[in-house]
Amino acid sequence: MTEHTFEPKILAFCCHFCAYASADLAGSMRLQYPPGVRIIRTPCTGRLEVEYYLQAIENGADGVLIAGCLEGGCHFIDGNLFARKRVTATRALLEECGIDKERLRMVNISAAMAKNLVEVIFEMVDTVKQLGPNPLKISRTILKEEILK
Ligand code: FES
Repeated sequence: MTEHTFEPKILAFCCHFCAYASADLAGSMRLQYPPGVRIIRTPCTGRLEVEYYLQAIENGADGVLIAGCLEGGCHFIDGNLFARKRVTATRALLEECGIDKERLRMVNISAAMAKNLVEVIFEMVDTVKQLGPNPLKISRTILKEEILK
């Protein structure tokens, strides 16, 4: 699989109040983003535990994007600040495990920032394309092939 044929699978956890609304607005504006991106609505990024990020990567996501409200704009006061701390800690953990931390990223987006969200998604897809497929997905495939021999 070359960089040109590789279409990364990106999970984008989007806060209901901001990023999800901006993804909705992007749709209304007919802005397009790559087909490998799956948007998952979450009540607040503060609800996302470290396990969610790790399981997404472990189960083969090539990248995980967390999109929360602007700082000071979280509807649950400081959920997005907790999320930022968890993402930072998880990025460090990924690096320790030999997985590039750029596979996990957090951004702060308001409901009106549809173009920014689409730009961030394209940047993330470009970054992950350069990194290549998730190494855990590759190991699983090799393991399956070995078992089926
Ligand atoms: Fe949007 Fe908390 S309500 S990040």
